[in-house]
Amino acid sequence: SFTPRVFSGIQPSGGLTLGNYLGAMKRFVDMQEAGSFETVYCMVDLHAITVWQDPATLTRNTRELCAGFLAAGIDPAKSILINQSQVPEHAQLAWVFNCVARMGWMQRMTQFKDKAGKNAQNASLGLFAYPSLMAADILIYHATHVPVGEDQKQHLELTRDIATKFNHDYGVDFFPITEPVIEGAATRVMSLRDGTKKMSKSDPSDMSRINMTDDADAIAKKIRKAKTDPEPLPDSLDGLADRPEARNLVNIYAALDDSTAEAVMTQFAGQPFGTFKPALADLAVAKLSPISAEMSRLMADPAEIDRILSAGAHRAREITAPILRKTFDIVGM
Ligand code: ADP
Ligand code: NA
Repeated sequence: SFTPRVFSGIQPSGGLTLGNYLGAMKRFVDMQEAGSFETVYCMVDLHAITVWQDPATLTRNTRELCAGFLAAGIDPAKSILINQSQVPEHAQLAWVFNCVARMGWMQRMTQFKDKAGKNAQNASLGLFAYPSLMAADILIYHATHVPVGEDQKQHLELTRDIATKFNHDYGVDFFPITEPVIEGAATRVMSLRDGTKKMSKSDPSDMSRINMTDDADAIAKKIRKAKTDPEPLPDSLDGLADRPEARNLVNIYAALDDSTAEAVMTQFAGQPFGTFKPALADLAVAKLSPISAEMSRLMADPAEIDRILSAGAHRAREITAPILRKTFDIVGM
């Protein structure tokens, strides 16, 4: 009974990576083009400030992320494209959810443990409450589907728990039980330095990560230097089971090429990395360089970006304001 609606977001925390592109943005465009959903895509600046951001840099990163969305193919005529802080209902619903979610649920979140590190007592309260705001981001649209990378799976489960508990506590069937959409060849792009850690824009120490704005030379160099074992590619995917670095490169190739890891293995069976890596670099450059050129073009006109975001916020609030009003009615406010 809920309108099929997609919501997803990316933090404007700087330096979009190949992981963000393949695991998120590219798939957002696919869902926009599928035509079977209303699509809402969001720059989540309220999430970004859970760790300190330089104010001028945050403003710039938000515009750059918007340019990235547009350049990757998000069309403001087909999708609602917004910046989170411009749609106040996200934060207002998050407060209600802070009162629904349990401390114990939040304490189990592995991303908090990873991001807070050893000094969790010194992490911001916002970083701890992050998944509750994320649930609000999704549910303030009654979104039914959320395309994300694998790292967000636990947060999506929490979103479902919050919706279920709210519906139960107030005896309503108001919030949908959202489906995570974690699919495609690159739901978890790993670091090129170390096949056991995810590639992340939030890890500034990882110089191996491919940024969406890298030039052709930088992309080729990073792929050439990517950690691999010395063996050629095997004949089938099974042969990659214990070779995470090689598997990661095959997944990246498949996702860039709108193909599958199986098909890539058929194409490159028995080939050494001396052949595969240059082919991957050429493909990555061919796919990323038009996007990065378009990002630069868009960044030259920040007023136009701001205008697109204001228009998006206006459209978003036609959905979010009535849902917040109804939520407050249910709660008795
Ligand atoms: P990051 O972790 O790079 O700071 P965000 O937290 O802003 O990125 O996540 C934005 C989206 O990008 C999420 O859907 C997340 O699952 C996806 N994503 C981030 N890193 C990767 C990756 N290495 N592989 C696949 N998807 C990713
Ligand atoms: Na993330």
